[in-house]
Amino acid sequence: MCGIVGYIGRRPAQAIVTEGLKRLEYRGYDSFGVATLDTVITITKKSGRISDAGGSLAGLKGSIGIGHTRWATHGEPNDRNAHPHLDCAERIAVVHNGIIENYAELRRELTERGHTFRSETDTEVIAHLVEERYDGDLLATLEEIIPLLSGSFAILLLAEGEDRIVAARMASPLVIGIGDRELLAASDVTPLIENTRRVIYLEDGDSVELTRNGYRIRNGGMPVEREITEVDWDIEDARLGGFPHYMQKEIFEQPQVFYNTLQAVRESPDALDLLRGRDRLTIVACGSSYHAGLLYKYLLEMYCGVAVLVEQGSEFKYYPPPLSGTVIGISQSGETADTLAALKMAQSRGCKTVAVTNVVGSTITRMTDATIHLRAGPEMSVAATKSFIAQLAAGLGITDALTDGSHAEENTRINVRIEEILTIPITEAVGLCSSASSLFYIGRGLFYPAALEGALKMKEISYIHAEGYAAGELKHGPFALLSGETPVIAIAIPGAAYPVMLSNIKEIKARGAPVIAIGLAGDIELAELADIFIELPKAPESTAVATVSVLLQRLAYETADSLGRDIDKPRNLAKSVTVE
Ligand code: F6R
Repeated sequence: MCGIVGYIGRRPAQAIVTEGLKRLEYRGYDSFGVATLDTVITITKKSGRISDAGGSLAGLKGSIGIGHTRWATHGEPNDRNAHPHLDCAERIAVVHNGIIENYAELRRELTERGHTFRSETDTEVIAHLVEERYDGDLLATLEEIIPLLSGSFAILLLAEGEDRIVAARMASPLVIGIGDRELLAASDVTPLIENTRRVIYLEDGDSVELTRNGYRIRNGGMPVEREITEVDWDIEDARLGGFPHYMQKEIFEQPQVFYNTLQAVRESPDALDLLRGRDRLTIVACGSSYHAGLLYKYLLEMYCGVAVLVEQGSEFKYYPPPLSGTVIGISQSGETADTLAALKMAQSRGCKTVAVTNVVGSTITRMTDATIHLRAGPEMSVAATKSFIAQLAAGLGITDALTDGSHAEENTRINVRIEEILTIPITEAVGLCSSASSLFYIGRGLFYPAALEGALKMKEISYIHAEGYAAGELKHGPFALLSGETPVIAIAIPGAAYPVMLSNIKEIKARGAPVIAIGLAGDIELAELADIFIELPKAPESTAVATVSVLLQRLAYETADSLGRDIDKPRNLAKSVTVE
């Protein structure tokens, strides 16, 4: 949610900052801007996407620069509200990711003291506060204003006459990249890996100065040491590699991701110890990760006899259930504000916490007692695909570790099953979906969360209205919407609820809605009932939930593609939602 990049070194900053922002575009793409410092600060900023900037940034000179790609919170996404923001004298430039909650009050006070604002953003107050207090020591000035700000922020600051970038972090991610006689700062590692693999994940309350001779980090005004981490993500992971969209590339990476993540669970003994022996677990997460949490509920309840409560992070913080034991936070980015706030709340109630995340060094890994790292690699498309499958792999791995290991062998074959799904023909189903204005997804048991996730994927990238339901619920209201114009995607995999699932499909057919049934190979009864039957390789439910999920990702992707949608950057969305 907003991406920031800074560079100081021996190369022209504009090109490096611009490339970095392109890598961070998935965090927001309402507007972009870059400021470089030569003898004076020069800025180019505009509404729209950095990838469409063309030559508009070419005139920016100097080897120090900061940049921003925005997901609008305060103020509409126009040129004026694009970052960087300047002070009155236009000698200080700032980019910011996060929200300054008390900005209205600060702005009123600053206005009374004679400052003139050019934007409607919360960020601009930072430039004016620095302007008021600046006395030749930029780091000390930033540290002085930090206590005045409430909310979340990762800030990068430039000032004329200062051969440095200063930065600060509070509840918004900020990573330093240490290159060869050059330093970078960014919201996450994806813009850094092109330049260096050596990174430092800053902590909350850290302030840092980047110069041509090195960096110094302080916290509470005192110097602190932070560990340098070697990033093992490959730059190729963050490139398209011949695919038309990141989403398709990421769907195709899933067999390997699944395999790697199962391995990762086995290498997480501390996390597993916190989950063993509990008769009750609580899970907090948002969006697709919440759907993964619902899958964990079914898996852990069915196979381990553990009662599982799954809560949306956004609700949990304000309406927490009675809590005890261990709370699992699932978050691809490890930075989702609602999930982090929920975990903090759980910790304040004495719970142990376990993170399931894809991002090493993310906030969630630093605040929880133990972590299971998903091995999905960088996920560039806004819509979660491979991280969801990795979350599922982790869930199956956890389930296996908490039982007798009887699923272990079957689990190791799932990657091969996923591979088979990547080429199954779905053209007819794509045709039906892309001509619909509303879709329903239904499933039972494990396939209920799979239905929710399938519908979320479809709506976010194709913009077709889609709702997921537990199959039995459809007749409690949504039936009123069924017609020949509302295809229903019915997941009917043999299991406890299979016979009643077939009855549900018959009821839907009787209301005239076309049915796309997803079932197992050789299911003649289902094939006869359905208008379109997609058959998956025969497998137990715990395997089929992976293949069904991948199939539904493809259905969403290919439908969105046939409609010419902007698949990797759907409208109004951003990856990594760092505001509550
Ligand atoms: C949907 C999607 C979102 C995220 C949600 C949580 O495709 O990606 O719904 O799942 O914003 O994000 P994380 O997992 O980073 O906490």
